[in-house]
Amino acid sequence: MASIYDKIGGLPSLVAVIDRLYSKVLADPITGPAFEGRDLDRVKRYQVEMFGVIMGGGLLYTGRGMSTTHKGLRIQKQQFDVFCRYLLETLEELNLDQESKDIIMRFVTEMEGKIVNR
Ligand code: HEM
Repeated sequence: MASIYDKIGGLPSLVAVIDRLYSKVLADPITGPAFEGRDLDRVKRYQVEMFGVIMGGGLLYTGRGMSTTHKGLRIQKQQFDVFCRYLLETLEELNLDQESKDIIMRFVTEMEGKIVNR
């Protein structure tokens, strides 16, 4: 069976997905300010790796752990929810089947404890 990564069209599509996700996240007054002064190219590069793993694309995640990365950033639950809403919205633009979307969203939801209020 094709992986989610293959279904969306591999690396070029994944890079486009992450780009679209961050355009939304950065433009929103709730999530945008959290990324002020951050190296966005780097964050996006690691997100491509992370979602490449989640989507079964056989990529390798070489970034830091989620607790370490978000520690001290004081990310609120509301910011996490907005981020997830934009992720789902971006996935909806892909014509991906429901099961694949559920797999990705479940994965991300389970990371909440490592990202919020650290
Ligand atoms: C499930 C949701 C999320 C995932 C999977 C995620 C994942 C990541 C990854 C992979 C990185 C780069 C890792 C590294 O620097 O080694 C990163 C960095 C970062 N994330 Fe998240 N993140 C999520 C949610 C959020 C939210 C909701 C915010 C704030 C609104 C946020 C703010 C940041 C910031 C500011 C950085 C840069 C940190 C730095 O430069 O040191 N993240 N995130």
